[in-house]
Amino acid sequence: MIADNKLNNLLDIDQLSKNDILYIFEFAEKLSSILNGSVKKVPVLRGKTVINYFSEPSTRTRVSFENAGKILSADVINVSSSGSSDEKGESFINTVQTLESIGADILIIRHSDSGAPYFVSRNIQIPVINAGDGSHAHPTQTLIDLYTIYKSIGEIEGLNLTILGDNIHSRVSRSAVLGFSTMGAKVTFCSPTTMNANYLSENDVNNYPSIMYTSNLKDALSDSDLIMTLRTQFERKASLVFPNINEYTRMFKLSNESLKYAPDKARILHPGPMNLGVEIDGYVSESDRSLINQQVMNSVAIRMALLIILIGEHTLDSI
Ligand code: CP
Repeated sequence: MIADNKLNNLLDIDQLSKNDILYIFEFAEKLSSILNGSVKKVPVLRGKTVINYFSEPSTRTRVSFENAGKILSADVINVSSSGSSDEKGESFINTVQTLESIGADILIIRHSDSGAPYFVSRNIQIPVINAGDGSHAHPTQTLIDLYTIYKSIGEIEGLNLTILGDNIHSRVSRSAVLGFSTMGAKVTFCSPTTMNANYLSENDVNNYPSIMYTSNLKDALSDSDLIMTLRTQFERKASLVFPNINEYTRMFKLSNESLKYAPDKARILHPGPMNLGVEIDGYVSESDRSLINQQVMNSVAIRMALLIILIGEHTLDSI
């Protein structure tokens, strides 16, 4: 339980038990009062240095970690591959060891290679948070998605989640199935068979026997409480795994038409960034059923909670 034993790194969601996740939610709830106050600044991480090292593009994750650190009075430094000594041929390990030596208290890492944050955590002494590695994991996004459901619906146990679209390339999908299953939700993957989530280990499949797969959107949505639509990852060659984009959008896009298959109560999630008109229509993303804006809003409180848990001195009671 992370309340009793310090969390050293956050590399994937399967490090966390249900109680750990609820503990992070409690922290985030307390921190929300700072975000809703008139002065959004507290000295909780004064004197600490947070370095965001992003070698892939990001808006939400990088900016929300930056904002979370600044609200807590940490010094936040952003480093991207472009413009850094990566471009002069410096190795990844030299780069992160340099950032540690310069004085980082924590590294937030996004990288195109699956497993990169694990490699880093074995080679430096400070905590590491995985901010998305290749097609592997995005644990902080899953905490945000779970927290959004916890705040808007309440109990997650027993809910039916459909994860729709480019499952094969999606680190969000892989962390989501583990996190939502840990919280007791039932997960159905819906994709063309060429985009099926084929990454679950035998252990995962044994641990979560309620996981299902289908390529039939109507079947997938008919009993959904939650529909998480995924970005179609063209940069990871998603267009090579379906015959053409028109056919893909006709069969798998979340639109007013396809939403008729889902119960009225079904709520919509998307981790962003969205390809509007490809995996989701704009009027669906902006509808009353959409929780997409709440996902973004909740990201700061969750990332503040993680920074305090990993490098702060405060406990839940003293914050
Ligand atoms: N959800 C997410 O990781 O978005 P960014 O790529 O904008 O950080």
